[in-house]
Amino acid sequence: MRADQFEMARQQHRQLAQQLHHHNYCYHALDQPEISDAEYDQLLQKLLNIEMQFPQLTTPDSPSQRIGSKPLDSFVEAIHASPMLSLENAFNADDLRNFDARIKRFLSRTEDLEYLCEPKLDGVAVALTYQQGKLVRGATRGDGTSGEDITQNIRTIGAIPLQLQNNYPEQLEVRGEIYMELEAFRKLNQQRREEGETTFANPRNLTAGSLRQLDARLTATRSLTISCYGIGELSYDPPETHAQLLDTLHDWGLKVNLNVVQTAENIEDVISRYADLQKMRDTFPYEIDGMVVKVNSRTLQRELGEKSRTPRWAIAAKFPARQEQTILKSVRLQVGRTGAITPVANLQPVNVGGVTVTSASLHNWDEITRLDVRTGDTVIIERAGDVIPNIIRVVTEKRTGAEQPIPEPTHCPICHSPVTREAGEVIPRCQGLDCPAKLKESLKHFCSRGAMDIEGMGDRIIDQLLRLNLVSSIADLYRLTREDLFQFDRMGDKLADNLLSAIAASKQRPLENFIFALGIRHVGNHLAKLLSRQFGSLQALAAADSEKLLALHEIGPQVSDSLIHFFSNSNNQQLLEDLLASGIDPKNVEQTPGTKLQGKTFVFTGSLEQFNRKEGEALVESQGGRSSGSVSKKTDYVIAGPGAGSKLAKAEELGIQVLSEGDFLELIERDG
Ligand code: IVH
Repeated sequence: MRADQFEMARQQHRQLAQQLHHHNYCYHALDQPEISDAEYDQLLQKLLNIEMQFPQLTTPDSPSQRIGSKPLDSFVEAIHASPMLSLENAFNADDLRNFDARIKRFLSRTEDLEYLCEPKLDGVAVALTYQQGKLVRGATRGDGTSGEDITQNIRTIGAIPLQLQNNYPEQLEVRGEIYMELEAFRKLNQQRREEGETTFANPRNLTAGSLRQLDARLTATRSLTISCYGIGELSYDPPETHAQLLDTLHDWGLKVNLNVVQTAENIEDVISRYADLQKMRDTFPYEIDGMVVKVNSRTLQRELGEKSRTPRWAIAAKFPARQEQTILKSVRLQVGRTGAITPVANLQPVNVGGVTVTSASLHNWDEITRLDVRTGDTVIIERAGDVIPNIIRVVTEKRTGAEQPIPEPTHCPICHSPVTREAGEVIPRCQGLDCPAKLKESLKHFCSRGAMDIEGMGDRIIDQLLRLNLVSSIADLYRLTREDLFQFDRMGDKLADNLLSAIAASKQRPLENFIFALGIRHVGNHLAKLLSRQFGSLQALAAADSEKLLALHEIGPQVSDSLIHFFSNSNNQQLLEDLLASGIDPKNVEQTPGTKLQGKTFVFTGSLEQFNRKEGEALVESQGGRSSGSVSKKTDYVIAGPGAGSKLAKAEELGIQVLSEGDFLELIERDG
């Protein structure tokens, strides 16, 4: 009986694994999903359930490895089959002309060479080894000769196939850049800012930090991706050109950002592509810091060979850093919903690469000490992916002696309660139980989209509620009356009705939104969804002990402690009681998405009027479609609002159907 059961489970597991590999490939490599994210999650859950019952089915290439496995004690050294080279830099057109001249001299030829131009991704270089099509090792570049074996972490990256397809070679070492898209980076930094955690200076640091985690479950939460750009070792006759090699890698299921690779007939052509790419730099959904230029012919590449650390056949044409000098006028202290106090620099406004910058992150007092930055200093700031730029260094030569140190606060700037900084933490926190700043941030988070989504409850309304003492706890929102609202400076019948009905409507939000809305430390959207699905009710979640929590694959000690701490706090228990008493009834709802837009990819551009970009994307997803940040051959529709620019132009160039907002809504509402 048991043997039969196992055999059935094994077969079902194999089928699920195959399906998951296939959908993973469609999503990441082809940018053309066939099922929705929710359906993918359901398949994965089924596979995880089988592995829970029969752990022997958990093989290294099982899709379950995508969510991480047991933490390691340390990383082991990974020696590269052939050195991972770096690139020489070019900073202008003349440097590129010299590069071309050097190559021609070396090859003793006068006729033009064909080049391939690829954006230079600003991430972390890795080497992936495949044997018999299976991913067996992922390693960092290290010093070029040997790096660290980060295979466990690499397996969590959805865009990296665990299994190759289509006539793959027996042995392959492929190289590429792991990076994080800007939207995911900004979202994560924003969330960390709100939770009083340190923020990352740029997507590259975040990527490097995520890959260096000993606990792969953390890496799994970090939305990393890859673009492959070359090979180290290959038991296969490689195609003749580099462009064909990239196509071949893509055929094997590897992700290559093919839509941005361009061939150039000669070096002047390369130079004009370099200028164009620099102009388009801000329209890319990820950070690029230059353009890599490669001789396209692999025969010529071999002939050219390499110098000690760099190939003769490639060069990195770098973009200027987006840095400027300005003066740090003052420092303001922000208090987040967890009481975290973060310093932000007020700057003399300055234009950095087309954007006017008025403030910069100071991150924390360790950073302030490291930079030795003072009020009044002239500083170099850099825009590096985040909405808020960073201070790179102080121009000490410009000091006058009038600069003032930036002291770490001993008391909260808002409620004046004492501040403490716990051992191992870099951020001081306000300990005031009734700190209005904490309440304000908690309210903002509670009402925000993805949480209880109370429409119209923006900053201005929340400020007035607090000023008029109408709310002293989140639960007070549900006790507001029309009379309360009419104490506002400006309030009309319609606005009052709308607000009250938006508050009432929020009582029906699903459990996952409610869990997220509570603002429990370390519990973002993704974990809230998982907890909702696993526990099914708030009561069950509140009652879960660490053993139950840690049994969940994606939950480690940090999250488990945070949940237990939250639910055992008597203030929080009172808050939950009050919220439930007001009629909030959060239920776990597994949304089954529609299928009208199944397999279709959408890009939103320009300023949208009837809905914002997030809502548009949610609509697409709710019908089984997918949205992307950039236009490529794979895009099915571009929804363009007023002011649409380069994405619209690209859509027209590629002959992609362009819709107005109205057309899009019609498409969604149309029957069938
Ligand atoms: S080719 C021998 N192509 O830039 C060729 N590198 O400074 C070696 N990089 O370590 C690299 N995008 O991390 C190549 N399209 C691209 C790239 C790229 C980013 C990084 C890579 C490399 C560094 C060289």
